[in-house]
Amino acid sequence: MRSTTLFSTARVLIVTGKGGTGKTTVSGVLANLAAREGLRAMVFQIGAPGARYEPGTVQLARLFGSDEVLGYEASVLVANAAGGSVHARAVTPDTALVEYLHLHGMRRLSRRLVNSGALDVVATAVPGMPDMLVLGKLKQMERAAAAGQPEAPDVILLDAPAAGHAVRFLQSPRGLLEAAGGGPVRAQAEEVVQMLSDPQRCRVVLVTTPEETPVSETVETAQLLERRAGVSILAVVVNGRLPVLSLPSEPEAAGLDALARAAGVRLGRQQLEGLVAAARLRLERQEVQAAQVARLGRELALPQLELPFCFDADLRPQQLATLTDALSTAVAAGLEVAP
Ligand SMILES: Nc1ncnc2c1ncn2[C@@H]1O[C@H](COP(=O)(O)OP(=O)(O)O)[C@@H](O)[C@H]1O
Ligand SMILES: [Mg+2]
Repeated sequence: MRSTTLFSTARVLIVTGKGGTGKTTVSGVLANLAAREGLRAMVFQIGAPGARYEPGTVQLARLFGSDEVLGYEASVLVANAAGGSVHARAVTPDTALVEYLHLHGMRRLSRRLVNSGALDVVATAVPGMPDMLVLGKLKQMERAAAAGQPEAPDVILLDAPAAGHAVRFLQSPRGLLEAAGGGPVRAQAEEVVQMLSDPQRCRVVLVTTPEETPVSETVETAQLLERRAGVSILAVVVNGRLPVLSLPSEPEAAGLDALARAAGVRLGRQQLEGLVAAARLRLERQEVQAAQVARLGRELALPQLELPFCFDADLRPQQLATLTDALSTAVAAGLEVAP
């Protein structure tokens, strides 16, 4: 199956998972794969209201080999001969509100809000409003793309809040629907809820590492997201899987010494002891990861896409390429998407 399947089901992909499992990295890898397929991908990073920039944007840019600090104007991180590209930008509730007012012919009001310093207050005063403004921005892009606007992205990715907050984040528009009597807030919330609950327009990609706590949290989040926020989940990305080494099942010094000698290496006693400890640790990690991947499969009926652990201090374009190759292979091997 071609990996375009990943992008042809829904234009908007919301990437979430437990903190530190790789949401920002996976957002970049997904965008890069889309670009390889000749698609235009736009990655949104959510910033705090009033913030000058969002740290995730620095990390994302570095993954693509740029030292840029992404702002509220989209930056181009990749543009290839296939016509594919990766764009990224930050979005905050206040900038989303300004853009909303501009698009709806309320430039004067937005200028007054900015000049008076009340913008942050208005964008964040009502519970759920900041989330709805950010999702509203996504929805506006998605509508522009659906209407065939020439500059609109083919794939819209949101590097979303961590799993625990993601449920509340994606529930916010529903909450506002119940609270808002009528008018523009209700209309906007209605449109966002429609997008979130339509699997042909928007899906969630969950990210986890193959470890016990993240897997448990992923299973729980998946259920809450589908039940409470009404979103449909496309797949689980299992990030950071250690490449499986074939090691002796009971590593001991004599055996490893024999292996080393066969490879023409002579090791001292201390080195051998270190090697035994390292081999035992690696075996244990591999077993834990295999058990957790299996448990995830039993507890959550979703396609799993595995990405390898990269043994580098910093993820840069070389690692991005490795991870993108892995995602492409994983999608070809196993992604069957329900229509
Ligand atoms: N497959 C991987 N191999 C090695 N390091 C990774 C991998 N994926 C992510 N990382 C690193 O792990 C850390 C957390 O990843 P990140 O994408 O920032 O997660 P999140 O956005 O969920 O907090 C970062 O330092 C990132 O570079
Ligand atoms: Mg992040």
